Amino acid sequence: MGKIRVYELAKKLGVSSKKLIEVLEDLNVEIRNHMSTLDDETAELIYEMLSEEKKVRNKDDIKKTKEYKTQEEIRVENKIKDKNKKGDKRIIIPDKISIKDLGEKINIEPSKIIKELFEEGIIATINQQISKKDASRIAKKYGFEVVLQDDKEIDNTIDTIDINDIEDQEQEENFVNRPPIVTVMGHVDHGKTSLLDAIRKANVTASEAGGITQHIGAYQVTINGKKIVFLDTPGHEAFTEMRARGAKVTDVAVLVVAADDGVMPQTIEAINHAKAANIPIIVAINKIDKPNANPDRVKQQLSEYGLIPEDWGGDTVCVPVSAINKKGINTLLEMILLVAEMCELKANPKTNAVGTIIEAKLDKGRGPVATVIVQKGTLYIGDAIVAGTAYGRVRAMIDDKGKRLKEAGPSVPVEVLGLSDVPNAGDLLYTVKDEKLARQIAEKRKEKQKESELKQANQKVTLDKLFQK
Ligand code: GTP
Ligand code: MG
Repeated sequence: MGKIRVYELAKKLGVSSKKLIEVLEDLNVEIRNHMSTLDDETAELIYEMLSEEKKVRNKDDIKKTKEYKTQEEIRVENKIKDKNKKGDKRIIIPDKISIKDLGEKINIEPSKIIKELFEEGIIATINQQISKKDASRIAKKYGFEVVLQDDKEIDNTIDTIDINDIEDQEQEENFVNRPPIVTVMGHVDHGKTSLLDAIRKANVTASEAGGITQHIGAYQVTINGKKIVFLDTPGHEAFTEMRARGAKVTDVAVLVVAADDGVMPQTIEAINHAKAANIPIIVAINKIDKPNANPDRVKQQLSEYGLIPEDWGGDTVCVPVSAINKKGINTLLEMILLVAEMCELKANPKTNAVGTIIEAKLDKGRGPVATVIVQKGTLYIGDAIVAGTAYGRVRAMIDDKGKRLKEAGPSVPVEVLGLSDVPNAGDLLYTVKDEKLARQIAEKRKEKQKESELKQANQKVTLDKLFQK
C-alpha cells in the first residue's frame, strides 16, 4: 500500500476520516490529524481490520447522531447525578448515547463496555452512539435502574427543544449529506467581509453575473460541485447571542487574523466561542500582501491560545490569504470542505422542517422578514410555522441570489415571509400541523414570557425591600 495519509486511507475504506481517527485513537496509533501519514504496516493492518468489520457491522451501528443536549436534559441529568452521589443508582438514558458517555454515567471503563458489546456480537468504538436498548442492558448489568428519557418532558419544555430530539425515529435511509455551515469570525477590520466578498466573487457563475447579491446574512457558494454555506455575522455578536440561546447552527468556524496586526481581543473571544461550541476552527491569516505582514508571529500567538498550526506539529489548519489580491482563497475553501467532510454532516430532507433564525427585521413593505437556515427537513411555501413567539404561514421564500424558492432543504439559507412578528436571532423555526396550532404554541410562549418577566420584576421588588432600612 505504501505510505498513505489518514484521509486517503479513509477514502479507500469508504469511511469518514473522523471515524478512522477514532479507530486509530482506540488502537493507540499516534496521529495528529487527517493529514498525518501512516506507515505501511499500520495502514495494511487497519485496512484489513476495517474492511472485515464493515462486512459484519449492521446498519444501526453505522448511523450516528450528533450529541447535543437540551437544557432540560442537562438539568435532569444533573439531578440524577446528584442522586447517584447519594447512592441512588438511577440513570437516565437518551435515545442514543456514546459508549464514552455511558461509561461516565455508570462509572465503567469504556473499554469494558466495548468488550461487553463485542461479546454480544456488536462492534463499536468509544465515540460511537449505541441505542438506548443496548445502553440500558449494559447499565442494568451493573446494577443500575434505567430511566428512559421521557418524551413528554421535552414537549413541556418546547422553548428549550433541540432539533436533534425532534425526529430520532427517522429512518437512516432518509439521511443525506448536507453542506457545511461556516461562520466567519475575527477582530474588527481584520477582513471578514472582504474575505467573504472574495469567496463570493470567485464563485459568481455566468448566470448570476450582473445579478445583485441580496444581503440575507447567509450565502451559499459551490466549490467543485460541493456547496458551502457562509454566515456573515456582523462582528460575532449574533453568534454570541445565538449561542447564549442554545442554538447550534455553525459546523465550522473560520477565524480571520490580519497578518499585520496579529491576535487581538476579539480574536481571543472568537476562539473561546468556537471552543465552547465545540466546532473545528480553520485560521485564515489575512492581509499577507501587506509589507509588514508577519504570519509567523500570528502562528506564535495562536499557539499561546492552544491553536497549534499543522506545520508546527499541531492540528490547526492555517491558510495564508489575501482577500484583496484573492490569494489562497481556493486553498481555504478546500480546507473547509476537508474539515467539513470529517464532521459527517447529514440531515433528513424528508421530514417537517426545523431551522434557526439567523436574523430578522421588520420590512416596511413586506412585514416581518426572517433569515432562516433550514437544518432538518424541507420547508415549503404554505407551511404553518412557529419561531419563538412568532407564528404564521410561509408566504414566500427568497434565497441569497434574490431568487424565489418553492422549497428549502437542509443547510439552505432563505428569507422567509409570512410571520406574525419579528422573531429573535437564535430562535428555532419549525413547521407544525396547521396555523391554529402554530398560534397556540406562540401564544403559550408569550404567556410564559410575561410570567417570567413578572417574576423577575417581583424578585427585584423583594430584593429592594430586603435592603430597605
Ligand atoms: P468589521 O466588519 O468592521 O469587523 O471588519 P471586517 O473584519 O469585515 O474587515 P473588512 O473586510 O471590512 O476590511 C477592513 C479593511 O481591511 C478594509 O479597508 C479592507 O480593504 C482591508 N483589507 C481586507 N483584507 C485585506 C487584505 O487581504 N489585504 C489588504 N492589504 N487589506 C485588506
Ligand atoms: Mg465586516
